[in-house]
Amino acid sequence: MTRIAVLLSGRGSNFLALAEAIRRGLVPGCEIVLVLSNKADAGGLEAARKLGLEARAIPSKGVPRAEHDQQMIAALLAAKVDLICLAGYMRIISPEFISAFPNQILNIHPSLLPAFPGLDAQGQALEYGAKIAGCTVHFVDEQVDHGAIILQRQVPVLDEDTHDTLAARILVEEHQAYAEALRRVLSGEYRLVGRRYIKV
Ligand code: GAR
Repeated sequence: MTRIAVLLSGRGSNFLALAEAIRRGLVPGCEIVLVLSNKADAGGLEAARKLGLEARAIPSKGVPRAEHDQQMIAALLAAKVDLICLAGYMRIISPEFISAFPNQILNIHPSLLPAFPGLDAQGQALEYGAKIAGCTVHFVDEQVDHGAIILQRQVPVLDEDTHDTLAARILVEEHQAYAEALRRVLSGEYRLVGRRYIKV
């Protein structure tokens, strides 16, 4: 069984979609063993506890990044996790954190990377006038929203879209994307060739 940790900072809808996909047997061979948040009041933590999962806050406010990341690394190592899924974890993680788990950290981002990295990707897409938006699940490397792409899903940007309607349309795809990406990673059928994550 591949042991998965989910890291989140907010409501945790991506976490919940992933947990539900795993529960329904759609992502074979894995289990969520730990949910961690840098915010004690993250809705996702409460939701995880309701599912009977181990869920803990390691508060980051006022704590130097290196120190906070060390606490996170220690908790993840203690839980013997094999893969880490960032799901709305709104903190940049340090190179030390990344090198402790090489190619074992995944992230979901609400844009078609490399377009619109960083905060409020949906707002950026709308502002830019993009006609297609979407989401990306990718491996995490030292640059923000930059690592090799596992998969992307697209949605149209409609003339009548507001930030909320576009974000909601992207979120529907996000909820499919993480489970699908994890299935690919766990299948053992894909390899990284340069930046390309392809079936070999
Ligand atoms: C999601 O839209 C996710 O893609 C985004 O935060 C939201 C979290 O929602 N992540 C980023 O922007 C990371 N750069 P959730 O808590 O409901 O899963």
